[in-house]
Amino acid sequence: MCGITGYVGLKNASPILIEGLHKLEYRGYDSAGLALLKDGKISVCKRTGRVANLEAAVAGDNAKSTIGISHTRWATHGGVSDVNAHPHVSSDGLFAMVHNGIIENFRGIKTFLEERGYTFKSQTDSEALVNLIAYHFKNRTSDSDENRFLEAVRKALRHVEGTYGIAVLCPLFPGTIVAARKGSPLIIGIGKNERMVSSDVLGFAGRAQSVIYLDDNQVASISADECDIVSVSNVPVDFEVKDVDWALENDDLGGFKHYMQKEIFEQPSALENAIRGRISDDESTAKLDGLNMTPSELRQVDRIMFCACGTALHACKTAEYLIEKYARIPVEVEYASEFRYRNSPIDKNTLFFVLSQSGETLDTLEAMREARRKGYKTLAITNAVGSTISRESDGGLYQYAGKEIGVASTKAFTSQVAICLMMALKIARMRDMSFSEGRAIVEALKELPRSVAEALKQAPLIEKIAKKYASYEKFLFLGRLDEYPVALEGALKLKEISYIYAEGYPAAEMKHGTIALVCKECPSFLFANSDEIMSKVVSSAQEIKARGGSIIVATHDPKAFEGLADDIIPLPKVHDAVRPIVSVVPAQLFAYYVAVERGCDVDKPRNLAKAVTVE
Ligand code: AGP
Repeated sequence: MCGITGYVGLKNASPILIEGLHKLEYRGYDSAGLALLKDGKISVCKRTGRVANLEAAVAGDNAKSTIGISHTRWATHGGVSDVNAHPHVSSDGLFAMVHNGIIENFRGIKTFLEERGYTFKSQTDSEALVNLIAYHFKNRTSDSDENRFLEAVRKALRHVEGTYGIAVLCPLFPGTIVAARKGSPLIIGIGKNERMVSSDVLGFAGRAQSVIYLDDNQVASISADECDIVSVSNVPVDFEVKDVDWALENDDLGGFKHYMQKEIFEQPSALENAIRGRISDDESTAKLDGLNMTPSELRQVDRIMFCACGTALHACKTAEYLIEKYARIPVEVEYASEFRYRNSPIDKNTLFFVLSQSGETLDTLEAMREARRKGYKTLAITNAVGSTISRESDGGLYQYAGKEIGVASTKAFTSQVAICLMMALKIARMRDMSFSEGRAIVEALKELPRSVAEALKQAPLIEKIAKKYASYEKFLFLGRLDEYPVALEGALKLKEISYIYAEGYPAAEMKHGTIALVCKECPSFLFANSDEIMSKVVSSAQEIKARGGSIIVATHDPKAFEGLADDIIPLPKVHDAVRPIVSVVPAQLFAYYVAVERGCDVDKPRNLAKAVTVE
């Protein structure tokens, strides 16, 4: 949602903070700012627009400071403006703070403080918190030897409802950053005679060799060479220091124009990483130790429930088809944000799964917490090692897809579906699936990176097709069976990076109303890779053609659409089990090239952020 960095050490803080913000800009990018401690005072610079604007604004500032905090914003409360950008400074000038999250009770706090003479400049919820910290600092009640700075932050947070990841400076404590988290990720980076904070490991830009992941309701007092962590209720916390695997954090563009383009083309290797060590030739099954479940526990599972958001939810919907088809277990998929408040009845032998690329999506995290509160075993499939969801689940699997920076998720989707397919295979081979059926799926998984690479070879053709359709303002994406969730995903991709209205729909269902949208101005993108219903998808194409709609079809049977589709994207014929993973590739490329043709900011689309850590 927003990106936070902080630095305290021996080096000039400003360039380090800016470098970290550039690495975190995918998390939010409508404005940015930083605060430094200089000559006993807080020095703040804030700018709307990208981090580069802030970088230009501080470039001429030669006054050195070795401690600072910074922020790149995705607006929640208050429009995009310099005054609403972070850091925010308390009206007594004593505290500067950056915040990621939402203070739900900020109005009550603001009224309380205004009645006591505090003043406000911005429309943000965050400014209420920094003034509440100042209030608690001024009105200290205890004579404990606890550091007054830490105590003021801790006491203020006890009145906060909502979520926060914060870093705070105070000129009376020139060598200390106080940081805290609840619901929004915050990590402490440990370097040589320097400490940092960041919303994401990437924000350390290779400087930290080890990290401490703050957990909810923890407050840290951080100096250049040490760190103390307590709970918000002042109970000391034993924390674990973990090494950083910088290979997983590679974020260079590698010759591509955009991260999204790079990540689409990385899918063969991302799939190799997701599959590696998880399939067994000898037993024709999958080996998924991370599930932390014995064979007998797995055999007792009567139902699987998935919760996720956005693209991850589409991966769950794809998994629903695969698991029900191969493992013969009923699967339910719920929007995480709905599950949390809907109180849907869950069967006692339900295995509860969450999928989340970032491992920080608050809707998904809270849905998992709700399931755990009800006593269900919760497993997580995430792409972020050490993320909150991965740490709070009862077990799960990492995707090992490598950092996904483009806001529009691509390689995360295909690796999530591949992992869910392996889960379906594992459960199926413990029940009714034969050795030979299992073997066919194992072979398909081993061949999958090459199959996806084959689909990627259509990129030049897809780019040409995209240019032809880039000016349209509405699109239908149609698929059946496990290509219906692929249609949903294709529509989301086009929407979120090219701002074209697009809708994913089951192909046959389209004639029950949605077909009214079909016309020359509304093209349709069809997925047709299931031989068992190929003729039915051909019929849907004919219905569209008859109404003047243009048709793009991604299919392993181009002949079936000759003279019918306006544009055909040939795909390799693959095993049904991996079909949705291959089918999504042309839709990803189509969305990418349309957005490029329309001059959109592919990696940082308007209004979006990579990880949505607010409700
Ligand atoms: C997908 O392209 C979007 N960026 C968004 O829908 C995303 O999938 C969703 O916010 C879930 O994110 P997560 O996988 O990190 O939980």
